[in-house]
Amino acid sequence: MIDESKLNERLPIGLLGEPNWFFPTIGSTNDQAKELAEAGAPHGSLLVAEEQTAGRGRGDHHWSTPAGSALAMSLILRPAAMQAGNPLALNVLGALSVAESIEAIGGRPQIKWPNDVLLEGKKVAGVLVEAAWREDALEYAVIGMGVNVRPAAVPPAAQLSFPAASVEGVLGETVDRAALLLSILRSMDYWLSRMDSASLLQAWQERMAYLGRMVEVEGAAGSYRGVLQGVTQQGQLRLESEGKGVLQVGADFHRLRPVDSDPR
Ligand code: BTN
Repeated sequence: MIDESKLNERLPIGLLGEPNWFFPTIGSTNDQAKELAEAGAPHGSLLVAEEQTAGRGRGDHHWSTPAGSALAMSLILRPAAMQAGNPLALNVLGALSVAESIEAIGGRPQIKWPNDVLLEGKKVAGVLVEAAWREDALEYAVIGMGVNVRPAAVPPAAQLSFPAASVEGVLGETVDRAALLLSILRSMDYWLSRMDSASLLQAWQERMAYLGRMVEVEGAAGSYRGVLQGVTQQGQLRLESEGKGVLQVGADFHRLRPVDSDPR
């Protein structure tokens, strides 16, 4: 079990982690967070689960969280308390925070746009941002993060559309899930007040997977290929496409994949 008392001694971190809820088992922390947000839960509310029975990933995919093997957490964020009204930027915030906390324990993660964290080219964590709008204004966002900490969190290969691994499997050592969670919150707290900064962009780009490589992204209206140049401040992908100059693609695109055979 995640050591709840250890967490509570150290929470909140800035405005994050109070109030907090721990669930031995739940359907989805994001679903529960949305209910709590609708009922008025404040900015920084944190939900953590040992096990999810109906965890969700992007694109309506199932996200597996077997008991005791992963981190499954959601935070409620409200726009008055942060600099961002852009859910795509919140994906970045989540992925960057997870990446930094894996670095702090010796990993060398990369961020696969917009929200996957990779170790040795395999996915170890994902972020699901769900935003609620009132007219044109962001009312709240729920940022859900799932980290495969132990090998048991990794689904069978047949269920995967992209290779996956666990942090412990790659690092070869035991990872303290409570410490990892606190480290993610510290990173998020730091970046939440710097959402529009050049340093956020730089921190993201430094860790971007496939930079300078030929990639493909798919959207509802088709796919684009180009050499990955980086991201814009709004979190859009910048692709240098032969004959079309630099394209910027946003949240309606997904499934970024390298299309060269570079083994990096
Ligand atoms: C993805 O890569 O597709 C995103 C995965 C997000 C999973 C997390 S686990 C905690 C939170 N609750 C959910 O149901 N999903 C997110």
